[in-house]
Amino acid sequence: MLFDSYKLDSKLLDNRYVVAPMTRISAEADGRANDRMKQYYERFAKGGFSAIISEGIYTDTSFSQGYNNQPGLATDIQADAWKPVIEAVHQHGSIMIAQLMHAGGQSQGNAYTDETIAPSAIAPKGEQLGFYGGSGPFQTPRAMDDQDLEEAKMGIVDSARRAKEAGFDGVEIHGANGYLLDQFLTDYLNKREDSYGGSVENRLRYVLEVVDEVLAEVGEDFIIGIRISQGKVADQSHKWAGGEEEAKEIFGALGKTGLDYIHVTDGDATAPSFGKETKTLAGAAKEYGGITVIANGQLQNPDQAESLLDSKQAHLVSIGTGALANPDLPNKVRDGVELEAFDFERILLPQAEVKDDEINYPVRS
Ligand SMILES: Cc1cc2nc3c(=O)[nH]c(=O)nc-3n(C[C@H](O)[C@H](O)[C@H](O)COP(=O)(O)O)c2cc1C
Repeated sequence: MLFDSYKLDSKLLDNRYVVAPMTRISAEADGRANDRMKQYYERFAKGGFSAIISEGIYTDTSFSQGYNNQPGLATDIQADAWKPVIEAVHQHGSIMIAQLMHAGGQSQGNAYTDETIAPSAIAPKGEQLGFYGGSGPFQTPRAMDDQDLEEAKMGIVDSARRAKEAGFDGVEIHGANGYLLDQFLTDYLNKREDSYGGSVENRLRYVLEVVDEVLAEVGEDFIIGIRISQGKVADQSHKWAGGEEEAKEIFGALGKTGLDYIHVTDGDATAPSFGKETKTLAGAAKEYGGITVIANGQLQNPDQAESLLDSKQAHLVSIGTGALANPDLPNKVRDGVELEAFDFERILLPQAEVKDDEINYPVRS
């Protein structure tokens, strides 16, 4: 099934392989994508991935940026800079989806402000990431007021419009990994006493408002997905307190919005996600969401990936570190060629920017 085609909205994908979003802090300091990024992304398309989800892209020139040298879609100039990247990917027949990311309190580098904002004035657990240039604990964010809520939402909506105008095939709203929208979903980061805090329904409210407005702005003939996880960059073992019931509420509500897909990420996509003998996160998204599911988490082994597709827990699989090690992973699997192991130090240290030997990689076409 990995090499069966799949229709996602109006796009026909050649196979089920998607590149997972991965922040590589290789953009210009002002947030423009550049030629190095073009070469980096083009390899995945040449290497057989039918779809590529970009790294998290920031969405406004106030609080959304999470990392220095992260690319943006917050201005027309930044949007224009993506055009050569998208064209290079399209030349090899793949589609490209922009991941729209507001970092919220989990920000460790922002060219526009030193302040961070979040649903509540609670710092993320854990520490900033050294390979993205940070160190020490996260600062305590300011709790968002009504104006912040509106501005952050409009930043995401306007960026979605810019993404469409620039030629992206879709956008993925980043609702995972501890960034802004996931902060709203997270009980210990969201202590709001208004209609955006408290019950799961309330914690979902802001996420659904963002989704609805993005759909209203660019929904037609444009792929719109969302990424969801339990774990976070700064708290990888986090689980929803309500377990599978909470999953049912979250995926059920997202499935009704008109989104084209839900992309779920977990430590091991094939493992039960809510305790012994429970569903995988993908399986829960599939059953309760009822729309296309992209599964992520240690799926570079084709047998594991195939098992999720065969058991109808997912429609597509996304590959992260396996794709960094093998930008041509689908073509290697197709040809029965052994995969290279991911070498964290070589690719992501001392800093996570794209390395020369990555863009010089002899991609199997
Ligand atoms: C260097 C790096 C950067 C990442 N950046 C992002 C990101 O920008 N957005 C996101 O949703 N996930 C990000 N992730 C998480 C990956 O998309 C993926 O979920 C994770 O690597 C697990 O998948 P894997 O087991 O296939 O590697 C990143 C992961 C890595 C290794």
